[in-house]
Amino acid sequence: MKSFITTLVLLAIIFSCFSQNPLFIPPILEGNKVNLHVQNGSMQFLAGGETATIGINSIYLGPTVILNQGDSVQLSVFNDLDEPTTMHWHGLHVPARLDGSPHNVIQAHTVWSPKIKVLDLAATYWYHPHLHGKTAEQVTKGAAGMIIVRDNQESTLNLPRNYGVDDFPVVIQSRAFDSNNQFVVNTADDHTILINGTIDPILKVPAQIIRLRVLNGSTNRVYNIGFQGNHQFYQIASDGGLLDSPVALTRLMIAPGERAELLVNLSGLKDQNLDLFSFGSELPNGIYGAAVPGVMGMGSIDGYSANILNGKNFKLIRLSVTDQTAQAVTTIPSKLVLMQKPDPNKSSVTRIITLSASGMGMGNLSGPFLINGQTFSMNRINFSAKLGATEIWQISNQTAIAHPFHVHGLQFFITDIGGSQPDRSRQGRKDIVLVPAMQSVRLIMKFDDFSDPEIPYMFHCHMLLHEDDGMMGQFLVTGIPTGLNTLGDDSAIRIYPNPFTDRLTVEASGVNPNLVTIEITNSLGQLCLHQKISGFPATLNTSNLKAGIYAISFKYGDRLLIKKIIRF
Ligand code: C2O
Ligand code: CU
Ligand code: CU
Repeated sequence: MKSFITTLVLLAIIFSCFSQNPLFIPPILEGNKVNLHVQNGSMQFLAGGETATIGINSIYLGPTVILNQGDSVQLSVFNDLDEPTTMHWHGLHVPARLDGSPHNVIQAHTVWSPKIKVLDLAATYWYHPHLHGKTAEQVTKGAAGMIIVRDNQESTLNLPRNYGVDDFPVVIQSRAFDSNNQFVVNTADDHTILINGTIDPILKVPAQIIRLRVLNGSTNRVYNIGFQGNHQFYQIASDGGLLDSPVALTRLMIAPGERAELLVNLSGLKDQNLDLFSFGSELPNGIYGAAVPGVMGMGSIDGYSANILNGKNFKLIRLSVTDQTAQAVTTIPSKLVLMQKPDPNKSSVTRIITLSASGMGMGNLSGPFLINGQTFSMNRINFSAKLGATEIWQISNQTAIAHPFHVHGLQFFITDIGGSQPDRSRQGRKDIVLVPAMQSVRLIMKFDDFSDPEIPYMFHCHMLLHEDDGMMGQFLVTGIPTGLNTLGDDSAIRIYPNPFTDRLTVEASGVNPNLVTIEITNSLGQLCLHQKISGFPATLNTSNLKAGIYAISFKYGDRLLIKKIIRF
């Protein structure tokens, strides 16, 4: 009997090495205080030695943070590493100072506690370190997590939203391990797929409509996801919001950093398995993950063709269908939300942003890549956008490989890709666009709510190796749009005299002076004065301003008062 049990145990151990592992579902973290501890760890991914990792409240990846639109949330990031890091809220509309960019460094063993107001629409976002030159390494080791934003509009729709029951996070990452089972950061040999950190995962799902929140958290790799047997699925959300209606698909290309929410109808499939694949064999050349990484056979990447994932179809996750739950969603909604796109007639600026390769040019598929001919520098602001302005950005890819271009601080809409309208799944709110090799895309975006005269937002390629190599730029959002008078009025705030000469007095009651910022901009929208207030009444020294018309903005938390003032 004893040897029989031993044999059973042995069999179980051997079997587990070859069989699937239950998909890890990160725990939820919610409420008005969210504490994230970035820490070193180690994890058993492969037989043999453990792998050194970085986790957040965990040994690999972090909790799924749930935020509700309208809430004020204190996000405290404890850097328990022995090196600096940052924590970026990818996709969230927050002030540049709270964005977690390379400008918001968290030194080793210190805490950074931005308090944000959740202004975002219901969708799937994520968080990850963004320390310049270290992003790929820290993210590869596991420092990343998902953010789910909920809002009132989404809540009224009949959608699966029971986390871990009919609504699942699916973080796709590809990894390379060295002979000591340690992660390799800068390599084309990423042939192990992790879903939420699980190798070869299986997920038990109910026989009804389920929601998958897919995040491509990989360094470089683009996936072309779809189910075995071309089982149809429906995309309901892109990076930063729900689409106007579900889009029926059998394939969806998802580039590094991008998210997509999918509905999958599993009704009637009880006791069956359905495998989610990446159909890499169907990726066109010129995309990282296709058989050939450069368009028209240009260039090569060391070790690329030896990687068994490139140009191949491979399984991401097995869905094992079980019983229906009590409150099952069984229909796909026909409508979702009304999307509010910026008005192209209001756009004041078209910016041209070129992506190019250093050195040998078109044959260079490994980088470093340049933005507008330059490598990133922390001290260079590429341009300033005006608060309230609508802009068109044209991203021209002059390289032989596609780059996922990301903009911080807002969601944009894609107006065209290579001159044609994007397909419906890319007509919604986006913060990443895959710019095809040798083509241009155009984006429209509006700079709402937040300006800062010093701290910029970033834009960059979300292939993390390209980003770390300097394929990044930065822009300020400043001042006040020209021609604007008053956005709101507030009798509790008095600004006098008007017209003024070399002194201006600001009085306010019931307002915490520490939370107030005052800016004066001229009629060209250029910032002329920026002042923090220590108490009221506050006197501004305006002796340096020339005679003319100015706008003064009084910012208090998320409230903004703008008045036209005249300097004699
Ligand atoms: Cu997800 Cu600037 O990055
Ligand atoms: Cu971002
Ligand atoms: Cu790139």
